[in-house]
Amino acid sequence: MKSLKIGLVAAVVLSMLSCQRTAPVNKIDISGLWKFHSGDDVAWSVASFDDSKWESIKPTDVWEHQGYKNLDGFAWYRFKVVIPHSMIDNAFIKDSLQIKLGKIDDYDQVFLNGELIGENGKTIAGKTNPRPDFFKGPSQWYTPRRYTLTANDPRILWDKENVIAVRAYDSGGAGGMFSSPFEISMIDLSDHVMFDFSQSGFNFSGDTMISKQFEVYNISSREEFRGTLAVAANRCDNGLELFKQETVLNLAPGIHTKYTVNIKKDNAVPASITFVFREYSSGKEVKAVLEMPYILTPAPGKAPRINGARVFGVRPRSPFLYTIAATGEPPLTYSAEGLPEGLHLHAGNGMITGVISKKGEYKVKLKVTNATGCAERDFTIQCGELISLTPPLGWNSWNVWGLSVSDKKVRLAGDAFVASGLISHGWTYINIDDGWEDIHDKNGNILPNSKFPNMKEMCSYIHSLGLKVGIYSSPGPRTCGGYEGSYTFEEKDAQHYAEWGIDYLKYDWCSYGGIAPNPTDRQLKFPYQEMKKSLRKVTRDIHYSLCQYGMGDVWKWGHEVDGNSWRTTGDIEDSWESLSGIGFSQDSCSLYSAPGRWNDPDMLVVGWVGWGPNLHYTRLSPNEQYTHISLWSLLAAPLLIGCDLTQLDAFTLNLLTNDEVLAINQDPLGKQARRALKTDEYQIWVRDLEDGSKAIGLFNLTGNPLPVDVRLEDLGIKGKWMMRDVWTQKDLGLVQTHFSMKVLPHGVRLLVLRKEGTKK
Ligand code: GAL
Repeated sequence: MKSLKIGLVAAVVLSMLSCQRTAPVNKIDISGLWKFHSGDDVAWSVASFDDSKWESIKPTDVWEHQGYKNLDGFAWYRFKVVIPHSMIDNAFIKDSLQIKLGKIDDYDQVFLNGELIGENGKTIAGKTNPRPDFFKGPSQWYTPRRYTLTANDPRILWDKENVIAVRAYDSGGAGGMFSSPFEISMIDLSDHVMFDFSQSGFNFSGDTMISKQFEVYNISSREEFRGTLAVAANRCDNGLELFKQETVLNLAPGIHTKYTVNIKKDNAVPASITFVFREYSSGKEVKAVLEMPYILTPAPGKAPRINGARVFGVRPRSPFLYTIAATGEPPLTYSAEGLPEGLHLHAGNGMITGVISKKGEYKVKLKVTNATGCAERDFTIQCGELISLTPPLGWNSWNVWGLSVSDKKVRLAGDAFVASGLISHGWTYINIDDGWEDIHDKNGNILPNSKFPNMKEMCSYIHSLGLKVGIYSSPGPRTCGGYEGSYTFEEKDAQHYAEWGIDYLKYDWCSYGGIAPNPTDRQLKFPYQEMKKSLRKVTRDIHYSLCQYGMGDVWKWGHEVDGNSWRTTGDIEDSWESLSGIGFSQDSCSLYSAPGRWNDPDMLVVGWVGWGPNLHYTRLSPNEQYTHISLWSLLAAPLLIGCDLTQLDAFTLNLLTNDEVLAINQDPLGKQARRALKTDEYQIWVRDLEDGSKAIGLFNLTGNPLPVDVRLEDLGIKGKWMMRDVWTQKDLGLVQTHFSMKVLPHGVRLLVLRKEGTKK
C-alpha cells in the first residue's frame, strides 16, 4: 500500500476538469430491437438463418416484462450489425473489439457469424464447439457480458453485416438479456484503466477523520499509460474543498496499485471524492466520483429505551421466544406485567420463553431499568393462527456467503448480532440460505453436509443468544445452487426443521420448473401448499417465506398457501439499477401486504457482500443505502441483512440501528406504503402508521441534488402537521399546505408527519 504523494498541485483546478470523458470511440449502439424466439436449436446461430418471422424484443429488459410470462428454459436472440473498419483507424487503442451485452439471466452462449465467441461472461478465444452443458452450475445472471476479440479475429466481418446470436437459458424466475450497456466498441482507455473502491470500506477515526483505500488497475497486458491522478474531496452542501492532491501515475501493463487517502471531515456531513486519471498522450480521462459516508443516526443514550416489535403472534402450544430489545447503559434489568400463563421472563437478558396454550390477545407492559431510570412500553401478544405480525428483522447468509455458508459463519453472525448491539434494536433471525444440504438418506432423512456438523446444536446455540434460526430449501429435486431440494420429502424435511429448532423457512422454486414447465396458476401454488401442510403438522412456528420471484402475482395468493412473506421480484444486487428497479416497482402489490403476509422485495445489500466466498464493500453509494433502508422500511418489507457482520463499519451500523426508521418498518398497522407522486425526477411514498401519523419518503431518482416541493394534498392530508426527520430524529416544525426540501442524488428524506395536537 502506498500513500498518495502530492505532485504538481499547481495548475490543476479540479472543479474545472470536464465531468465527461471524451466522446466514446466509435461506439455502435445495439440496444435497439433484437429478434427473439423461445426454444433451442443450434442452427439458429448460423448467420444465414432466416429470423424474419421471429418476434422483436428489447434486450434491456427480461423477457417476462415483454409478454413471455413464466417462460423458463431456452430462448434465442439475434441481431444484425455492420462493423465498420474505420473504428480501428479512429481508436486510441487499436487491438481489440468488445461486444457488450448487458447481463443475461441465467446462462448464455454468444455466437458471432455462427462461431462461438463467449459463454457465461467468458470470451472464447479460438474456434471451439459449443459446450452442451453450459447452463449447469451456479447462475450467472449478475455477470456483466463483455466479449473481447482481437481486431484481427477472423470471426469479425469488418465492413460487412455481422450476426450476433445469443442462446440464453433461464433456470427459473426472470430470464434473458437485461441491463446495459449493449454496444460494440474498440477497447478504450477506460476499459483498461479502472478505479475500484469496493475492496475496502471507509474507516472512521474519531468524529472527523475518514480514510479510504482505493485501487487503480491497468488491466491491459500490453499497454502502458502515463498520466496524472488528481483526487479532490468536496462537501456536497456548500462545495467547500476538504482535500486535494495530484500525483504522477505511470500505469505499467497489468499493474494493480492501492492508495489511501485521509480526509478531515465531520462524520455527519455529506461529501464526495473525485478521482481523475488524465493520460498524457491522448489527453483522455478516466473519472470516478465516490460519495463519502455520513452518519445521521444519533447514538443511543444512557437512559433505557425499548425498541423492536410491539405486537407478536404465536400459535397455541408452539415454543415462544421473544427477546426484549432495549438500549441504555448496562446493566439493564427487564420485567413484564401481565404475561400470560406459561411464559417466563429472564430478568437479566430480557428473553421471554415458554408456551401459551390458550388462544387470545394478551396485553403486557414491558419494563427496562438501569441506574439512570426506567422505560416502559405496551406489548401485545396475539396467540392465534397468524404469526410474523411485523416483518422479520434478521440476517441471511446468501448475499454475503453464497454457497460457502457454514456452521461457523452462522454462529459468528449470531455472535455479531449481540456484540454489535443489533439485537438491542429488534434484529432477530439468523438465516442459513442455500448450501447447507447433503442428501436424503435411504430413510428419507435430509442430512446436512459436512459444513454443518450438528444442526440441532447450532440452533440451540443461536437460541441461547435470544435469536432465531432460519433455513432454506426448494420444492424441486435441486435447489438453485444445485443442492438437494425437498421434492417428495416435504413432510420429513419439515419434521427435521422442527426438531432442529428452525424458526424460518425460505422455500425457493428452482428446479421445480423441470416438474412444471410453463406452470399454470394451480401448478404455481401446488408445491407451496404441500410444504404448508407439512409445516402445519409440526408444533413450532416457522415463518414461511416463499421465494418464487413473484410468479403468477404471488402477492394475490401467497396467503392461501399460508405464506408469511413472498418474494415479489428476482434477486437483488448491489447496484442502483437493481435497487431502484426493484424498490420502486412495489406499488402494485402494496394492497396485498398485511400483518403476517408481507411482500418481500429481497434482502439488503449494504456492508460487505459478495455471494461468497470473496467479498466486496457494497457498490451502492451512501445515499443509495439510505434510500434502500428507508424504502424497504416504508414497504413493510422483511429486512434481512446480507453482509458479513464481523466487518460492520460505523456507517452500516448507523443504517441498521435507527430505531425510528425500524419503528416504521415494524409499525403494528402493517400497511405498506403507496406511491403518492411520481415524476421523472422524484417519487413520494406515503405509509399510514398505527397512531394516525404518516411516514413519508421523498426519493431523488436523479444523479444531482434536487429540491422537492411537496403539497400536503399530494399526500392525501390537510391541516397542520408536525414534521420530524426520521434519520436525524429531529423535529422540523409545523407544516401546512406545502413544504420544500433538498434531496441528495439517489437519496431520500424520510419524514414522519404527526397531526398537530396528537400525542407521540
Ligand atoms: C435464488 C434466490 C436467492 C438464493 C438462491 C440460493 O433463487 O432468489 O435469494 O436463495 O436462490 O441458491
